[in-house]
Amino acid sequence: MQPPSIPNNIVLIGFMGCGKSTISRELRRLLGYPLVDMDAIIEERAAKPINRIFEEDGELVFRDMESGLLEELAAAAEKTRIIATGGGVVVRSQNRATLQRLGYVVWLCAPPAVILSRTRNSQERPLLHADDPAARIATLLAEREPWYRQSAHLTVETAGLSSREIATGILESARYFFAGHPHAPCQEP
Ligand code: S3P
Repeated sequence: MQPPSIPNNIVLIGFMGCGKSTISRELRRLLGYPLVDMDAIIEERAAKPINRIFEEDGELVFRDMESGLLEELAAAAEKTRIIATGGGVVVRSQNRATLQRLGYVVWLCAPPAVILSRTRNSQERPLLHADDPAARIATLLAEREPWYRQSAHLTVETAGLSSREIATGILESARYFFAGHPHAPCQEP
């Protein structure tokens, strides 16, 4: 059976630990589209892991690399990809505008307690290296939730659903979206 075709990128946004990487891999499996993991590309370009970019170069350098890559992806001719963003991509207003040109934007969210348990043992998330990670998560979530909400075409509460269920729901919604928005700004002219 041919994989179902969707005429544009599917872009996953959401807080750390909400399943962007897992769901992006499931979407790749279902659709057969290439997967772009923005954090992995940034690490490759910097030739070091994200926590070392933060430590040695500072968050600003990371954010500039992130914005630059997002722009490149929006300008690229290839428009049928699965794009997994980093949790902080919505922090800059310029990035929120770029997301709208990039494709169908899906916000994956989960309750703070789930986020805490999924990120508790992660050494790779410099923003959660805090004395009180729960408080840090609450502060960052409060700040970012309005930005995720305003950037997303679809919101998915991931708790209690399998990766397969989430990915299938996203594909169906994306198909409806593109069928009903033939002149959506994220469509190719
Ligand atoms: C960040 C999230 C991380 C990574 C970086 C900053 C954030 O990605 O981009 O550590 O600001 O929320 P994940 O959401 O994939 O963990």
